[in-house]
Amino acid sequence: MPIVVSGIRPTGNLHLGNYYGAVVNFLKMQEENDCYFFIADLHSLTTHLDPTMLHTNVRNILSEYLACGLDPEKATIYIQSDIPEIVQLYLLLNMLAPVAELRKTVSFKDKVRKNPHNVNAGLFTYPVLMAADILIFNANYVPVGKDQEQNLEFTRNYASRFNHRYNVNYFKQPTAYIFSNELVKIPGLNGSGKMGKSEGNCIYLIDDPKTIEKKVKSALTDEGPTGENMPKPNCIENLFALLRAVSTPDVVVYYDNLWITGATKWYSNLKKQLTEDIIKVTAPIRQRINDIRNDDVYLCKVTQEGAEKAREIAKKTLKEVKQLMGFKSF
Ligand code: TRP
Repeated sequence: MPIVVSGIRPTGNLHLGNYYGAVVNFLKMQEENDCYFFIADLHSLTTHLDPTMLHTNVRNILSEYLACGLDPEKATIYIQSDIPEIVQLYLLLNMLAPVAELRKTVSFKDKVRKNPHNVNAGLFTYPVLMAADILIFNANYVPVGKDQEQNLEFTRNYASRFNHRYNVNYFKQPTAYIFSNELVKIPGLNGSGKMGKSEGNCIYLIDDPKTIEKKVKSALTDEGPTGENMPKPNCIENLFALLRAVSTPDVVVYYDNLWITGATKWYSNLKKQLTEDIIKVTAPIRQRINDIRNDDVYLCKVTQEGAEKAREIAKKTLKEVKQLMGFKSF
């Protein structure tokens, strides 16, 4: 079975864009692959330094993914910092990571520009830790967003450098599995761009029905079609994209026809329908999030069993890697 590894940074709550863009893909992948999904809490240290928030963030994002259907019976689900072997492999891989190459990291340069007073070595070697996450399980596929492609390229570089330097064929070349080609784009509510964390642009899975109603109501619209068969402006196309994600095909056709025939005064109905269908999708998930988030026994069981399963492989990889590198015990 192909091995799939993906890390989830514990920042913020899941929104509809994450759900249709990433989570749904994870759910499909866990049916057909040997999946390792983990909460990348060590990675989050580059920006999140508040100790009280760290655990809360991990708990929240873990509960949200489990509530969406990530299944510990099908995938290995664990917390990155529970696997010390990853950190050890990270150190070893650092020796295969030329500084000149790391300097080219686009996301690093971005972060330096945005936050010039917090440029630490952890941020600089972020791609090396990510490579350790992936190579410790010798992954075939790594589902990630488009912005992570370069990190994957570095992972492949370290893998082939290792093989070359130690004259072995140990690490596979992991392939990025880019989400954005696969699934619907979920647009934001403020008329442009995709759903992101900016204010008013985003519907979270944990939003209650009232909040969802308010957000959809306030989504940007125009004056209505000015004739038959007009092209849809961005803000209207966005509402239709959401409708296509959450509603049934006949509903989409119905509203599409209203647009095509140039009818007016149906946006509030469209928004009511959209609200209703978003709630239909999110309400059961929200319920499960709240149940799981407060279920210490369950969360403890999931993370302990996940760590055990992950460590079994991680220990083996680390031992083999160290042997290949020439470490020997007396
Ligand atoms: N860097 C990834 C992100 O920001 C998260 C991540 C950490 C990851 N380690 C990983 C993703 C390993 C895939 C595989 O989204």
